[in-house]
Amino acid sequence: MLKFETKIMKRLSIILTGLFLLVTIVNAQLRVVNTFVENRHKPMGLDEPQPRFTWIIASDDRQVLQNAYEIRVSDSRENLEEGEHLLWSTGKIQSSQSVHIDYTGESLKPGTRYFWRVKVWDNKGNVSKWSETDWWQTGLMDPSAWEADWVSAEHENNITAYYFRKDFLTDKKKEILKATAYLTVRGMYEASINGKRVGNAYLTPGWTSYNNRIQYQVYDVKEILDKGQNTIGVILGEGWYKGRISRKVYGSETAMLVQLVIEYADGETIIIKSNDTWKTSTGPVISSSIYDGEIYDSGKEIIGWDCSGFDDSSWKRVLVKDYSKTNIIHTYNEPVRKHEELKPLEILISPEGDTIVDFGQNLVGWVRLKAMGNKGDSIILHHAEVLDREGNFYTDNLRSALQRNIYILNGREQGFEPHFSWQGFRYVKVEGLGEIPNPDDITAVALYSDMGQTGNFITSNPDLNQLQSNIQWGQKGNFLDVPTDCPQRDERLGWTGDAQAFCRTAAFNMNVNNFFSKWLKDLAADQLDDGNVPVVIPNVLGNRSAGSAGWSDAATIIPWNIYQIYGDKRILHDQYPSMKAWVDYLVDISNDLLRNNGFHFGDWLFYSVDDDNGGRSAVTDKFLIAQCFFANSAKIVAEVASLLGMEDDHMYYSALHGQIKEVFNNEFVTPNGQLVSNTQTAYVLALQFDLLPENMREQAVERLINNIRAYDDHITTGFLGAPYINHVLTRYGQLDVAYELLLQDTYPSWLYPVKKGATTIWERWNGIKPDGSFQYASMNSFNHYAYGAIGEWMYTIIAGINPKEPGYRDFIIKPQPGGGLSSAKGELNTYYGLIRSNWRIENDLFNIEIEIPVNTSTIVYLPASSAELITEGGRSIRGVEEVNILEENGDYVMLILGSGNYNFTVEGFKYQAKH
Ligand code: BGC
Repeated sequence: MLKFETKIMKRLSIILTGLFLLVTIVNAQLRVVNTFVENRHKPMGLDEPQPRFTWIIASDDRQVLQNAYEIRVSDSRENLEEGEHLLWSTGKIQSSQSVHIDYTGESLKPGTRYFWRVKVWDNKGNVSKWSETDWWQTGLMDPSAWEADWVSAEHENNITAYYFRKDFLTDKKKEILKATAYLTVRGMYEASINGKRVGNAYLTPGWTSYNNRIQYQVYDVKEILDKGQNTIGVILGEGWYKGRISRKVYGSETAMLVQLVIEYADGETIIIKSNDTWKTSTGPVISSSIYDGEIYDSGKEIIGWDCSGFDDSSWKRVLVKDYSKTNIIHTYNEPVRKHEELKPLEILISPEGDTIVDFGQNLVGWVRLKAMGNKGDSIILHHAEVLDREGNFYTDNLRSALQRNIYILNGREQGFEPHFSWQGFRYVKVEGLGEIPNPDDITAVALYSDMGQTGNFITSNPDLNQLQSNIQWGQKGNFLDVPTDCPQRDERLGWTGDAQAFCRTAAFNMNVNNFFSKWLKDLAADQLDDGNVPVVIPNVLGNRSAGSAGWSDAATIIPWNIYQIYGDKRILHDQYPSMKAWVDYLVDISNDLLRNNGFHFGDWLFYSVDDDNGGRSAVTDKFLIAQCFFANSAKIVAEVASLLGMEDDHMYYSALHGQIKEVFNNEFVTPNGQLVSNTQTAYVLALQFDLLPENMREQAVERLINNIRAYDDHITTGFLGAPYINHVLTRYGQLDVAYELLLQDTYPSWLYPVKKGATTIWERWNGIKPDGSFQYASMNSFNHYAYGAIGEWMYTIIAGINPKEPGYRDFIIKPQPGGGLSSAKGELNTYYGLIRSNWRIENDLFNIEIEIPVNTSTIVYLPASSAELITEGGRSIRGVEEVNILEENGDYVMLILGSGNYNFTVEGFKYQAKH
């Protein structure tokens, strides 16, 4: 396969180069349409000494490749645009690279905004204009630049939020050139200057392995400063640092650190910093905790506390703390921001008499409420994901999490939103309003990391579309700075197993590059000294909760996936010590390379029956699973070693991989090829990770299919088998069976929850049983993304979008219609631009529109027995210059295409469209 692909690539480059030499300049607008610095737009506070640039090129022409580029960087927009006093100018570089170009100009200074732009030349003699000027701003770049002191308040019982303030003066006569706030806390904060909120990020400073790394944020606050009198205020809550969620692994007190740098036009700089001159008080946010929600007492509001002219003589002095500042790091991933706002779908009175607002979508964030009532009265908002079968509000599955916001009114009209908490909900029970809420006054606000949507997937089957929507909402709800298992009960932790299962699907839906890069650094930071990897990251469960197969293997699987998807070798470089340490640990603890010890979650939440006399439960031996993941992790490390040029390591881990496989076969496979666990997950893992000798694979596939048939065409895997089962079936020629599983809609299946009205992915295949009753309340989340891992198969097999070279520089479009679908569209925004595959089947015609970004090339597989049956834009493909036929194998015609939009039609396509 590999050899074959190399051959294809060679041919492609020969064909394209040959063609382009012949073509003269055409009327094509070559333009740079999007730019990124370290994968983000205009990042503030980037401490990367060599940030990397990426740009997306567009052209109206086809088969466009970048031949050269020029980048310019300056610390002044004017200088950049005039081309003077540049800090870095590459000159014209002959290169096709447009993704992740390292900055190698003059050393970057802290607190500086750098402007940059790029222009490109293509293979047809065109040159673009300069791109729109883009910028990034450096942070403090060195922890020793923190001049401010950590300050704290004397903690009082039952109060979890403290208010801090400081008045300061700016020189009225001077023009302020720049004002930058640097902020972090041991806790969670909201800051304001002169009564105006600083920035639009939420849940800051985000969650990291706080004992090793705490992120700070950087804000441009020039616009909210006044001339003369100013006040900065900070509300400090517990967040992930101290509340129940932290399980006491961090500090016992919250604290904050602020540095506000104001630069005047005359060159003078003043710095306002947290120190012993700041004052502190309690305020209306009495308590605000991630699991339990907020209590806000308007009677305790302090009017004007974050504005000048306020008398703070009754406020206390802060306590200065000597906490370390060396572990403060810049924020690499996108902050959590507000996104969708939903109005009530319905406001109902339940049989038990509760007033319940239904937002129609299970989501994560909070409710914004406008309310008026008597002073001292309370409004209580309770949050739930589901109603029970009688239609009553159901919260048992939240376990001990209260998810409840209490607002005590002041007698005037007020707007409420919680500060340091969020809720997972579709339904909100409103108490204390005295009347049915006005729908205009109650809004659900979704919060999630601002990663940017990259994928779209839609078909002719509404149930599948709902599944895709459920996957996307599951991702939104569980990507709040860390990838969590669930967002509602008293858990909300960065479970590694769930994250590795879902990671590839996540990367289709949104750009999760920096999100996972950041989290993987926490994984490495929390990795134990012996190399073992905790099952939740950041690790708040203690060092004994580590080492489970398929969970701790996130250490190898996720960096590898992220590299494949974004083509970014830096993540492999950064994570390599952690990846290697994990595999070395496994070698150490295994018994002659048999991983038959330790605690494992196994194939979590596999199909099981309560009273299992007939042995129907799909139990897979946990050590068999452990051996599979051991082999896979060793293989990944071997490949990464090779990519990073570490030949010795490559040899060692390759050999290790071979030995682990051998042990697997000796221990878990009978001479006839049956696995000791006759389950779908056992066969799926053995096949997915290539553990069986080649001559035993076909029969393993047969056994897998027999097993699926024995369960009347249902999936029975848990979290570990589910991501791979359809891939394995497809790879071994069983596309129809894969579609049967996908479209099955009785329990257990992906569409069963859809039929039950799910709007997110459930933790269990049957969170709501066929009779409408619930699964055990102790583990029944309705927003758990793990089973959403099927999303990747939908993009790669139904729509047919597959990476070939890491980062989609070369990719494959191979749609594989089935299941009676009559159309499907998949889109993916890559670092090269939009890839689109949009097919439909009508009257024996298969039509596909394909969009291929500039600077990439594609192999397209069209389902046709011969090229004669295919037209492009109405012309036989044999006559279309930009369409190169690579191979016709009877099933498929394979084409090599360069960038552009194409519209192919295959005649005589025999297919039974049902949906
Ligand atoms: C979580 C999971 C997690 C699991 C470990 C559960 O409580 O919600 O999704 O992976 O524990 O098995």
